Amino acid sequence: MLLSPSILSADFCHLGQDIDMLNSSEADWVHIDIMDGVFVPNISFGFPVLKHVAKVSQKPLDVHLMIVQPEKFIQEVRDLGAYIMNVHYEACPHLHRVIQQIRDAGMQPAVTLNPATPVQLVRDILPDVYMVLLMGVNPGFGGQKFIPHTVEKVRELRDLISETGSRALIEVDGGVNMQTGARLIEAGADVLVAGNAVFSANDPQEAIRQLKSL
Ligand code: DX5
Ligand code: ZN
Repeated sequence: MLLSPSILSADFCHLGQDIDMLNSSEADWVHIDIMDGVFVPNISFGFPVLKHVAKVSQKPLDVHLMIVQPEKFIQEVRDLGAYIMNVHYEACPHLHRVIQQIRDAGMQPAVTLNPATPVQLVRDILPDVYMVLLMGVNPGFGGQKFIPHTVEKVRELRDLISETGSRALIEVDGGVNMQTGARLIEAGADVLVAGNAVFSANDPQEAIRQLKSL
């Protein structure tokens, strides 16, 4: 499995130290949550801050845009040197076009589904995406309680991926810890995002090591 720690739960006064900690950890990617206060009821950080994060991070950036009209920022995300750009299904009426634009910009495109959005809705875009991100909580905040139905959605998506011959990865974001993570991996998830489970641990690198052993 791949682990993508979310810096939403990092110490923003010492962001550089937390990125260094991730650099020397077993984390595979760094998950970056961008919020606009419109698509979700919270605002996190924007490109002026992320430019500095990108400079220090040695891990590929897994950027999750919780914003309306994410296509307006493809260039900015590309300029960060991002590996993956995740856009929400619910924020993109012309999803197919946005996915092509992300690919044309040289990034891996991923589509994200809110807890109430059925996995069947991504069937026609599966051949075009690198990854599908299933939210395990309603997006906007770290440290929320996992919605158990997400495990069933991972199973359904795994079946849909096999049925359509797609090679898309399944990532889950929100409420991931050792218990929920084990159930998600067993159901077929490839990538887990973890914010609180990493950054509020006494030893974040050890928490990463444990999550990686799932
Ligand atoms: C929530 C964000 C998540 C968040 C996860 O809207 O998309 O990436 O950081 O945090 P935890 O792992 O604490 O639920
Ligand atoms: Zn996220």
